[in-house]
Amino acid sequence: MTARPIIANTREELSEALASRGEIGFVPTMGALHDGHASLLTRARSEVGESGAVVASIFVNPLQFGVGEDLDRYPRTLEADLMICADHGVDVVFVPDVTQVYPDGDPEVTINPGPKAEILEGAARPGHFAGVLTVVAKLFGLLGPDVAVFGEKDYQQLKVVTRMAADLDLRLDVIGVPTVREPDGLALSSRNVYLSAEERARAPALHRVLRECAARIVEGKPLAAVTTDGAAELERTGFVVDYLAARHAETLAPIDSAADGPIRLLVAARLGKTRLIDNIGV
Ligand code: PAF
Repeated sequence: MTARPIIANTREELSEALASRGEIGFVPTMGALHDGHASLLTRARSEVGESGAVVASIFVNPLQFGVGEDLDRYPRTLEADLMICADHGVDVVFVPDVTQVYPDGDPEVTINPGPKAEILEGAARPGHFAGVLTVVAKLFGLLGPDVAVFGEKDYQQLKVVTRMAADLDLRLDVIGVPTVREPDGLALSSRNVYLSAEERARAPALHRVLRECAARIVEGKPLAAVTTDGAAELERTGFVVDYLAARHAETLAPIDSAADGPIRLLVAARLGKTRLIDNIGV
């Protein structure tokens, strides 16, 4: 039988649950867990070993949602999430409400995510990364993890969190884990449940087009033409494209040619009301 994790709803319960633990491997989430999150939990365990503790948090952070975004309808599936945590040997699940995370209301002091957060997702979603980094920094403060594991699915998030940990000397390792995909290539995402059957059938084009763009870059085609053609192909498939960009894989800075790489291709596009993001290395 799978052991149930300890569920901590308050800061005090969390401190109690973490007292005299070994190394802590942390997986922050907003719930609606799927196999992508499961791969993060597995990685956290392999980092801290059996003597360490794997801790997941489940908190839909209002600070990182903009006006008109999906905060209210974000999927909440706590019972199923706890089963996934149990199946993956999670020791403690922190499930705070907003008053536990922000006891004094919206924080006066927030994390400035720097220039990487003004482009791509940051340009499309102003304030998003300040909200992400602020809650991540608070969760790091509350848990004191040795290792924190994030998915490459949110590639820009992974890069800004990594940079925050380095710039603020947070004394933990931030680890990125490859995206888990459906057999047809669609990246697993908690937001995939928003797709209608017809949109779901179109959605794998996002990954297909990224792979086609990567292949053309490897053939030596100019980056600007590749991304313009890729975006046009997505629009033909029914997407409304926010961006399809070839960026430096570490700095996310724009680059002119493949020689300036390594390259990461990043895309955000809407199918109906659902906004999907994806990325791949070239
Ligand atoms: O990736 C997410 O689910 C969220 O952005 C995170 C890191 C849990 C912060 O709320």
